[in-house]
Amino acid sequence: MKIKSICCIGAGYVGGPTMAVIAQKCPNVKVTVVDINEARIAAWNNEDLSKLPVYEPGLDAIVKDARGRNLFFSTNVDAAIDEADTIFISVNTPTKTYGKGKGMAADLKYIELCARQIARVAKEDKIVVEKSTLPVRTASAIKSILDNTGNGVQFQILSNPEFLAEGTAIEDLLKPDRVLIGGEMTAEGEKAMQALVDLYASWVNRDHILTTNVWSSELSKLTANAFLAQRVSSINAMSEICEKTGANVAEVSKAIGMDSRIGPKFLSSSVGFGGSCFQKDILNLVYIAKSYGLDEVANYWEQVVLMNNHQKNRFSDNIINTLYNTVSGKKITFLGWAFKKDTNDTRESAAITVADNLLNEHAKITVYDPKVSEEQIFSDLEYLNSRDPKQNRALLKVEKDPYLAMKDAHAIAILTEWDEFKAYNWQKIYDHMLKPAFIFDGRRLLDHEMLKSIGFECYEIGTGNASQ
Ligand code: UDX
Ligand code: UDX
Ligand code: ADP
Repeated sequence: MKIKSICCIGAGYVGGPTMAVIAQKCPNVKVTVVDINEARIAAWNNEDLSKLPVYEPGLDAIVKDARGRNLFFSTNVDAAIDEADTIFISVNTPTKTYGKGKGMAADLKYIELCARQIARVAKEDKIVVEKSTLPVRTASAIKSILDNTGNGVQFQILSNPEFLAEGTAIEDLLKPDRVLIGGEMTAEGEKAMQALVDLYASWVNRDHILTTNVWSSELSKLTANAFLAQRVSSINAMSEICEKTGANVAEVSKAIGMDSRIGPKFLSSSVGFGGSCFQKDILNLVYIAKSYGLDEVANYWEQVVLMNNHQKNRFSDNIINTLYNTVSGKKITFLGWAFKKDTNDTRESAAITVADNLLNEHAKITVYDPKVSEEQIFSDLEYLNSRDPKQNRALLKVEKDPYLAMKDAHAIAILTEWDEFKAYNWQKIYDHMLKPAFIFDGRRLLDHEMLKSIGFECYEIGTGNASQ
């Protein structure tokens, strides 16, 4: 069989860019991305491409190319399901905030709703592709819902986890390290897998397309994220030793990264990893391990998240200690709020935790981020429920001009590694700050020799000569 018409449920950070690239690379396949969020769909349809709901370098050009030709965004979920031969499920699977597995397990209610909707609407055989990151064995739950509709429609469930990273989504989609497709090891399963392999083979070398059983595919996604996060927590653990001993974490990273068995990537020490995937997927893995009684396995992986929490907290503790043990009423400017550069996504961003800790100490925070909106910043803080929303707004301000944001500040904290921060006029910034002027570089982004020569008091994650 050949895929001719795709419906993707969920127009978020994964669904939107992935479908845009499929549509661009497969002009003969009709791709419809649907979402229940009307504002989001309206934004995807906006004539002004700078208003797309997801900011990714290169995405606007692809949407411009394919939208209206074979790429469509719609809120009519039923119609798109009915028309498609292949349905991607790309809805969000947040960590549960209630009941059993609270704070750990993935909340599958959106997935289940999708499955029930597909079951209700479908009149012809379909391939259903899990794109969202899901706990192992979710495919079998989806299958059981779909197989019990009683209308005789045959579904093939495939797992096709997405490995794109935000900020480089388009690059990652155009040149993936690998595409992973898991399916049932039956004749029908093989046929469905082959159809999806052929779709990707329009632009991905077949040697880079792997097929496995469904469970290996589901588990590989969790494992990949757990390993990547573990590298960050491992180098962050070393950063604290570096600060105490006078070693430099960048030198350590370089030295170990040249070992081809270790490799150089993902060894940048930071204020802590964020993003919608790492913490959620690890907690999910921990929950799965515990549910099988594998306590040692669960504890092993949980340490990666605990280390990350420690890294975020020790960054804010250091700011407080350095500012003479009190930040109450002091203006501290955050450069960056996104969880990494080149994205407007803030989910699990270290900036949120660091801000919350400092607000507990009554600091006055001013935030500048080139892509994150003011509403998003307040919504991130309100979600924590640490204090009254009014208090958040009284203590924290969002500023659109970076120089104004840093004027009269006691300290600057770098939370995201946006390139533009490096190009600022740091002498001018210094001249307009209170003295001593402190910089806490949570991303090892700036040239600290230059800053020190201007007169700044500098702290850099993982550098031994910190002014503590
Ligand atoms: C190690 C380091 O590789 C080397 O750089 C350092 O100088 C000394 O320590 P060595 O102990 O000789 O070298 O062997 P190595 O190949 O690293 O294996 C260590 C252990 O890990 C062995 O028991 C090996 O069987 C095991 N191992 C290694 C695995 O179980 N799985 C693997 O994928 C790799
Ligand atoms: C991650 C995976 O990389 C991707 O394959 C998966 O599909 C989704 O999860 P993403 O969360 O978008 O992607 O970004 P990533 O680049 O992995 O960064 C995650 C976090 O780790 C960021 O906060 C980043 O700043 C931090 N990080 C990354 C470090 O602190 N140091 C590093 O060396 C690398
Ligand atoms: P991700 O990073 O996984 O793409 P997002 O939260 O950015 O996550 O996007 C998921 C999208 O899925 C949201 O826009 C949400 O409105 C949408 N969604 C969730 N449930 C459904 C559903 N049952 N039908 C259609 N869209 C849904």
